[in-house]
Amino acid sequence: MDKKSHTRFVKNMFGAIAPRYDFLNRLLSLRQDVSWRRRMVAALDLPEDGRVLDAACGTGDVAIEILRQKKAPQIRGIDFSPEMLAIAENKAARVRPGPEVFLLAADALQTPFAANSFDAVTIAFGIRNILNRRQALEEFRRVLKPGGILAVLELATPAPGPLRSLYLLYFEKILPAVGGVFSKNIRAYRYLPASVLSFPQPAEFSRLMRHSGFSDVQWLKLSAGIATLFTGRKPGA
Ligand SMILES: C[S@@+](CC[C@H](N)C(=O)[O-])C[C@H]1O[C@@H](n2cnc3c(N)ncnc32)[C@H](O)[C@@H]1O
Repeated sequence: MDKKSHTRFVKNMFGAIAPRYDFLNRLLSLRQDVSWRRRMVAALDLPEDGRVLDAACGTGDVAIEILRQKKAPQIRGIDFSPEMLAIAENKAARVRPGPEVFLLAADALQTPFAANSFDAVTIAFGIRNILNRRQALEEFRRVLKPGGILAVLELATPAPGPLRSLYLLYFEKILPAVGGVFSKNIRAYRYLPASVLSFPQPAEFSRLMRHSGFSDVQWLKLSAGIATLFTGRKPGA
């Protein structure tokens, strides 16, 4: 699939599964997704009223977690799926109605924000869906203030061993079947394990972050390696 067709496929797929997305995330990860996002947001050292860009914000769970954890944050959430954004709007307004969260339809590869304008950029389970990851990382670096932090949360698989074999049985066989039944979109839940398995290993993705201009790049395996949290800084504070 070329880049254009891939983008169209991803956008349509998330549009189609949006109504069941949150429910299936909680079910298929046994609510681990909630604690992974919590961990990512806890890693952000924001000033009071710090500005955060949440790229590929989906249904707004990262933005809501930021509202819960941080004092007076100013959050901008972008996603290219209007269906996911509509759900995010409703959820954010229920948690805290007000101007702290501003959501808009935009591509993570080319955001409408000025350079050096955010204290943090977050992307949870989004970078895997973007083919031109370097361009996305460079865009995140552009909009970050010097010294600002990038946090990338992504799904992964456990290291080789019995746990990995067991997990792959679940991830490649059971998850697509359950996801397919509830979302009525088996293609989306077949794409999920395939995209995770083709995502680079943590050391390789960390290298890409460094090559894209981030310093102090670190990564942490979560839940026996089922997810990875990457952080890095824009140099020059
Ligand atoms: C797996 S969901 C993650 C949503 C959310 N961040 C979360 O924590 O649940 C991936 C999201 O990335 C969005 N997405 C993928 N590629 C994108 C791009 N290039 N620009 C903007 N959004 C994108 C999709 O529309 C989808 O909402």
